Amino acid sequence: MQPLRHVLKAQGSPRWGPLTPASWLLLKNFRAHGGLPSTANPSPERQEDGVPKDFSSRLATGPTFQDFLRSASGPQEEPSSPEAEDPPPYLTVDELLGRQRKVYLETYGCQMNVNDTEIAWSILQKSGYLRTSNLREADVVLLVTCSIREKAEQTIWNRLRQLKVLKTKRPLSRVPLRIGILGCMAERLKEEILNREKMVDLLAGPDAYRDLPRLLAIAESGQQAANVLLSLDETYADVMPVQTSRSATSAFVSIMRGCDNMCSYCIVPFTRGRERSRPVASILEEVRKLSEQVKSSPGYSVLFSLSQGLKEVTLLGQNVNSFRDSSEVQFNNAVSTNLSRGFTTNYKMKQGGLRFAYLLDQVSRVDPEMRIRFTSPHPKDFPDEVLQLIDERHNICKQIHLPAQSGSSRVLEAMRRGYSREAYVELIHHIRESIPGVSLSSDFIAGFCGETEEDHLQTVSLLREVQYNMGFLFAYSMRQKTRAYHRLQDDVPGEVKKRRLKELISVFREEATKANKNSVGSSQLVLVEGLSKRSATDLCGRNDGNLKVIFPDTEMEDVTNPGLRVRAQPGDYVMVKITSASSQTLKGHVLYRTTLKDSSAYC
Ligand code: 5AD
Ligand code: SF4
Repeated sequence: MQPLRHVLKAQGSPRWGPLTPASWLLLKNFRAHGGLPSTANPSPERQEDGVPKDFSSRLATGPTFQDFLRSASGPQEEPSSPEAEDPPPYLTVDELLGRQRKVYLETYGCQMNVNDTEIAWSILQKSGYLRTSNLREADVVLLVTCSIREKAEQTIWNRLRQLKVLKTKRPLSRVPLRIGILGCMAERLKEEILNREKMVDLLAGPDAYRDLPRLLAIAESGQQAANVLLSLDETYADVMPVQTSRSATSAFVSIMRGCDNMCSYCIVPFTRGRERSRPVASILEEVRKLSEQVKSSPGYSVLFSLSQGLKEVTLLGQNVNSFRDSSEVQFNNAVSTNLSRGFTTNYKMKQGGLRFAYLLDQVSRVDPEMRIRFTSPHPKDFPDEVLQLIDERHNICKQIHLPAQSGSSRVLEAMRRGYSREAYVELIHHIRESIPGVSLSSDFIAGFCGETEEDHLQTVSLLREVQYNMGFLFAYSMRQKTRAYHRLQDDVPGEVKKRRLKELISVFREEATKANKNSVGSSQLVLVEGLSKRSATDLCGRNDGNLKVIFPDTEMEDVTNPGLRVRAQPGDYVMVKITSASSQTLKGHVLYRTTLKDSSAYC
C-alpha cells in the first residue's frame, strides 16, 4: 500500500509568516512497527479486542480529500464536543471508543501543560478510556511535552528511550502499547519525531486534543497518526478539565491560549499559535462550578475533606493580561487598548473586546471566599484599571509576576520585549504605589545573544534594586524558528551562561531572603493546603504572595465561632504569626481560624 499523506494549511491564513507553514494536518500511514505493511501484520490481540481486521484497507479506500478538509476545518469553525460530531466515515463509532484501555499521562513543563493534560484526559475519558497512575498497567502512554529550552526536549528523548524498552518487552498476551507525544514538542518537530523514534504512534499539537480519540483509533491499527494543526480560535471552552492540581484547595482555569508577542528568543508563538481568549461566560461558569465543588484531598481522612468548594483559582494563559474576549459583538467597538506607560507591542494594536480588568472583576465576584491569582502576564498589559482592581478587591491576591528577562535596555531591545529598563523600573514603582505590600516575582534569562559582562551586571543590579520575592531564572537556549535563531548569534559560551546564571540565582536568593525577612513579626493570612512534606506534625499553606508558610499543627480558636477550638484543615484560612523566613519559605505559629472576607476587614 502506498503511504497516504495529506498536508493541509489551516483555515483563515494567519497574518504572520511563520505560522502558516506550521499550521497543518498530517495523517501518515506509516508502515507497521515490525516493518511490514500494517495490512500484512494484523495482531491477534487486535482481533480479540474488536478492531476489525480490514481497518487498513478501509482507511486506504475510505477518506476522500473532502473528508480531510472537513476534519481539518470543522473544529475551527464551530468548536463542539467530540461526541456530538459524526465520526469520519472511515472510522466507526466503536473504533473511536477507548474500550477501557488504560491511559498513563505524564506532564512536562509549565502549568499550561498541566491544564492541557486535564483537557486531554477529559476528552479521552468521555471516549471510554480509563486512567492509570501505574505505568506498568498502561495500554497508552501520552507525554505532554515542552519545547521552551533544549533541555526540556532532551528529557523527552531520554524518556522515549525508556518507553521503547517497555514497548518491545511487552508480552504478546497484552494489546500493544501505544505511545503518543502531545503538546509543544509535537508541534515544533512534527514528523521528525515519527521518523526519529519509530515507536511513537501518535502526535497531537496543543490545538488538536479533540482529535485524540481518532488519532488513537488509527494508532490501534499499527499506523502512525498526527494532527499538528494550529487553530485560530480553539480555546477548549466547552471541555471541562478534570482538575488534578497540586492540592485539594486550588485549581487552574485556562482563560486564553497562544501568544502574539514574538519575543525574539521564544518558541511559544510557534508551538502554541496565535493569541485567542476564551469567552468570559464559559470562564465564569467553570469558576462557579469550582467554587461549589466538594473535593477531597488525596491522603487525608474524611475529616480533611473540604466542606465547601475550592478556595483558590489561578487564571492561566501564556499572556493572561492580554486577555480579549471578542466573541460578543456588542463589545467589539473601537475602544483602544491601554498599555502600561512606556511599553509598546510588536504587533498592530488591537481594539475592542472584553479586556482582562473586566474578567478579573467578574471572576472575583463569584465567591468572596475564593482567592484569585493569574499567571503568566506580560508587563506591557498593566493599565491602571487592572492595578486598582487588584488593590481594591479583598480576594484578588496582591501578587504580580512581572517577567523582566534582562536588566539591560540593549538586551531588552534585542529580545524585542517592547520596553527599556527605565520603563520597567518605573512600572515597578507605579505598581508598588498602587498596591501597597504587593509581592513581586520575575523571570530572567542569562546569556542571551550579544549579552556582555556589563549587560549581565545590569541584570544583577535590577535584581538588587527590585528585591523580588520569587524568581525563575534560566540560561539562554537557542531555539530554531525564532527571530534570534535567524538574526542573532548565540555567542555567549555555555560556561559563561552557567556562571552568569549561578550569579543571578545567588543574588536573587540574597535579596528574596531580605525581602521575606521583612515579614517576620507580621501576621499573614494562610490558605491551608495540608501536611508539610517534611514533617508530619507541621501544616503548610500559602500566603497572599503565594509563598509557602509552614506552621505546627496545633489547636486554635475559630473567630467566626467564638469559643470553638479547632485544628486547621485543607481549605481553611488561618492567621499565622511569622517567626522566620528564607528565600523560599516562611515559618510561624498559628493564631486563629478566620475567613478571607473577615480577615480583610482588619488589614
Ligand atoms: N531560553 C531560555 N529561557 C527561555 N524562556 C523562554 N524562552 C527561552 C529560551 N529560549 C524563559 C523566559 C520565559 C520563561 C517561561 O521561560 O524567561 O518568561
Ligand atoms: Fe514567549 Fe512570553 Fe514572549 Fe510570548 S510573551 S513570546 S510566551 S516570552
